[in-house]
Amino acid sequence: MYDVYGVIGYPVKHSLSPVIHNLGFKLLGLKSVYGTFEVSPENFEQAVIGIKALGIQGLSVTVPYKERIMKYLDEIDKTSSEIGAVNTVVVEEGRLLGFNTDWIGVLRAFEENGITLKGKQVVVIGAGGAAKAVVYAVKKAEAKEIVIYNRTYQKAVELAQKFGGVPKPWDELNKAEGEIIIQTTSVGLNSKESVVGPEVLLRFKVAMDLVYSPLKTTFLTYAEEKGCKVIDGLQMLFYQGIEQLRLWTKKSLSQESLSIIQKELYA
Ligand code: ATR
Repeated sequence: MYDVYGVIGYPVKHSLSPVIHNLGFKLLGLKSVYGTFEVSPENFEQAVIGIKALGIQGLSVTVPYKERIMKYLDEIDKTSSEIGAVNTVVVEEGRLLGFNTDWIGVLRAFEENGITLKGKQVVVIGAGGAAKAVVYAVKKAEAKEIVIYNRTYQKAVELAQKFGGVPKPWDELNKAEGEIIIQTTSVGLNSKESVVGPEVLLRFKVAMDLVYSPLKTTFLTYAEEKGCKVIDGLQMLFYQGIEQLRLWTKKSLSQESLSIIQKELYA
């Protein structure tokens, strides 16, 4: 019997999550498979209702459904409620349980790079779904101050109010300063655009970009040129995925297995 897992989103055809999970299951010695469920918005409700009937054991939830899925779940853990988004569904005894591992992915990515957020001045660019988990994580790690810039200012205000941050207008982004800068918008995805120029990155020590296609975004290229330590978008994807595997299987991967998956992800 092969247990079935997958990622639900739109689009998801190019997702790298199957690489993490199929290899993860194999290394854990499990007969489980992970696929992509590309579900268009008009079919979303029917697809979610079908999870139990199909016997699917767990799902990753991605753009644009991390908020929309919440009302269909039997239970949502406290952190996901606080963040306001679910990226992981665990099916347990026929019940759909919602979790959020994105914020854990952010924290692990910093930890594994030996970077402490505690007491730091942090700038977050963007106030969409991904930014929520980032700001939650940075707050949890006790950063000194979180400054949020977003194209739509009102969303920066709302996010800042929710978790305790300072909203700033988009046209002031070129004045941003601090120690750590985290890029959460879709700018740079499959393009050479960067939300900021190299002169801004010069003022920071660490730069993280959640975009991982291309892996070396223009934002990270500028950051590296200006001497920042850089954390690419695959790192968060990797660590949030490893946490999903743990929630689904209740097993932990060895350090060696983690290295194997990471190598495959970057191949
Ligand atoms: P995700 O879950 O990936 O964060 P999202 O919730 O749609 O997706 O958020 C996208 C983010 O990218 C938002 O902060 C959005 O800014 P707005 O709130 O103003 O829409 C930002 N974004 C997308 N395209 C952008 C662009 N061309 N310039 C600046 N910000 C952009």
